[in-house]
Amino acid sequence: MNIRVIVGDITKLPVDAIVNAANRSLLGGGGVNGAIHRAAGCELLKECMTLCGCETGQSKITGAYNLPCKYVIHTVGPVYYDNGDEPQLLTSCYKTALAIAKEKGIKSIAFPCLSTGVYGYPKAEAAQVALKAIRESDFDGEAIICCFCETDATYY
Ligand code: AR6
Repeated sequence: MNIRVIVGDITKLPVDAIVNAANRSLLGGGGVNGAIHRAAGCELLKECMTLCGCETGQSKITGAYNLPCKYVIHTVGPVYYDNGDEPQLLTSCYKTALAIAKEKGIKSIAFPCLSTGVYGYPKAEAAQVALKAIRESDFDGEAIICCFCETDATYY
């Protein structure tokens, strides 16, 4: 597997799949989730409504509609309370998303910096968790970490 770190807007990437930093409702929200739903169009929300939400640390796949990628893999990162189980839950986000990608024959997948915005996960720690989880997975394509700014990229 190849890991690449880039700076950019994940909604613009013509990869096989982008990962959405969703919440348990899977019905949209702010941050990168809002940007993905806006760019995909309302058909994405309609498909998400059929999924009955998603548990923290788990992932579900949908079509990508008006986005330039083929699929969106929605994952629900942990809110950072510092109560101990956040690293396992964040690891599970990356691993479940990559397991779905592998199962679907996806060869390129882009992740935003899950949980590091509204959910408050410290960026340096989240970067370590992300890299370890990706390296440990048996996904054999290209994993792209799409940071929204240069500063975020320095953590990777
Ligand atoms: N492309 C790439 N990265 C982005 C983009 C973009 N277009 N927009 C924001 N980011 P956040 P979370 C980065 O808050 O912490 C939502 O309301 C952003 O700079 O989107 O997992 C959901 O509905 C940050 O580094 O996700 C949930 O309720 C990263 O994406 C909650 O926020 C994640 O920030 C999830 O919180």
